Formats: sequence, structure tokens, C-alpha cells
Amino acid sequence: MSLGTPNPWNQVAAGYSGWTQQHLAKYAAEVVQLLDPASRSRALDVACGSGAATLQLAPRVEQVVAVDFSPGMLAELRRKLGESSVDNVDVVEGDGQSLEFPARSFDHAVSMFGLIFFPDRAAGLSELYRCLRHGGTVAVSCWPPACDSPAIRWMVEGVRAAFPNMPPPPRSETALDSPDKVVAELGEAGFRSMEIHPLSHDVVVHDVAGVWREMVEGSAHLGLVREGMSQDEWDHREASAIRHLVDNYSSPISVAMPAIVGIGHKP
Ligand SMILES: C[S@@+](CC[C@H](N)C(=O)[O-])C[C@H]1O[C@@H](n2cnc3c(N)ncnc32)[C@H](O)[C@@H]1O
Repeated sequence: MSLGTPNPWNQVAAGYSGWTQQHLAKYAAEVVQLLDPASRSRALDVACGSGAATLQLAPRVEQVVAVDFSPGMLAELRRKLGESSVDNVDVVEGDGQSLEFPARSFDHAVSMFGLIFFPDRAAGLSELYRCLRHGGTVAVSCWPPACDSPAIRWMVEGVRAAFPNMPPPPRSETALDSPDKVVAELGEAGFRSMEIHPLSHDVVVHDVAGVWREMVEGSAHLGLVREGMSQDEWDHREASAIRHLVDNYSSPISVAMPAIVGIGHKP
């Protein structure tokens, strides 16, 4: 299994739609402000997950089309829509690398922490470009490498305490993880007049075990690490992670989780 397939996302969808979405919704809120969509516009949310951006775009635009390849994530989004008064969202199961929508059918397109998982990111960006009308805007977001993110470092430290033989995350040449790469890849897809917005929100940890468990429940990465492991072994490893974090950080702490948002315009 890899994060480029729906299953790891299906398995954590219920957990993701709680704590993780609540945290990521803060970045989505800022992106919606930056896009400042007109009320008659149509927006596309690709790799929408359980709806962090969709649910905030919907009250601002005429229609949102929310696409994800994980039926589990889409079920969470449909549940949230059912509990709200929002009635202008179309939920579509599909692959962001090959979208079913006609060219030039949207005014705005976003992919928040989504297309970073596509095996063919260039195809995902080209599809966003194709689906936008001329003058339309795209927003994509990604994380910097672990070494530049206190919150990711905190999580990785816990994971490495649980799995002492696990190497530190390698610095990847191919990951989308810097402003320069975001500008370059948006440019290659045809976008122009790029803007980079560094955003950051703190993860506030009062209760290490509680935050650790919330994080695990919503993390497709950790789902892969746990794959095939017995509950006993996991419990043992999890206890090591929590012990390490309790011993090495005084609670409560606030750890910054910086993100990179790139906005591009289709000429
Ligand atoms: C980290 S979540 C982000 C979800 C949401 N955008 C947010 O900000 O909370 C990544 C999402 O990308 C979706 N995804 C990954 N690859 C995909 C693909 N090729 N096509 C569509 N969705 C994909 C996953 O199913 C998951 O819902």
C-alpha cells in the first residue's frame, strides 16, 4: 500500500475528519480569504479529504465540486454536509491526476495538502490548469521538510522513539516542499503571477498521550507504519513514543506547523 492509493486514506478517514481536519481547516480558512472568491463563482477542491476547504468555500461561492479518490474521506464529507445547511457542494469520487470535468469550467481550484501525494504531480497541476477558466486562480499547499517544521519534528521524534531503527526522514529531491519548487511546478503547468504565502499555526499540546492518539488516528503515514502489526506490539511502541515525548518536552507546549501556500493565475 502507498499513499498514492485510496486504502490508507480510507482506513484513517474517521480519525482524520476530527482532530486533523480541525487543525488543517485553519490553513484552508486563510486560503479562502486569499482567493476571496466572488459569490457567483465555481470552485474545485481536489483531494478534498473530509472537506477542510470545501466546507469553507461553500458559503462563499455558487458551487463547489469536491473530488477525492478515497470513498472513506468522501463519506466523512457527505456526513458533515448532511449535518450542515450547505447545499451547493457536489461530491465526486475521482483521481486528481485525471479529472472528468470540461476545460475552463471553474473560477478557482484548490488542492490543500493533497496533490503532494500524487505519483504524477505534474498531471495533477495540468488538470487544475485545464479545468480553470482564463483568469482563474489556483491555490496549492504543502509542508516544508521535517527539519524546518517543529510540529513535524515533534511527531517524527515520537515515531523514532517507537521505532528506534527507523532512519530520519530523508531530504527528498522530488517532494514538493519549498517555495521555489511550488513556483517552478505551477509555472511548468502554465500558471503565471505566482504568489507564495507562508502560513503557520501552532499545535498546542496539553496532553501528550491525547494529542499523539488523535494524530495517529488521522495519519495515513502512521497507518502504513502500523500495517500488519499486532495490537500488543503497537501498544508497546506507542507507549515508548509517548514516554519519550513526555520526558523530552515540558507540557503544555505549542509547536509551530508551518505550511507553504502557492497561488497561481491562469492567463
Ligand atoms: C492530507 S489529506 C488532505 C485533505 C484535505 N485537502 C485537507 O486539507 O484536509 C490528502 C487527501 O488527498 C487524497 N488523495 C491523494 N491522492 C489522490 C488522488 N490521486 N486523487 C484524489 N485524491 C487523492 C487522499 O484521499 C486524502 O483525502
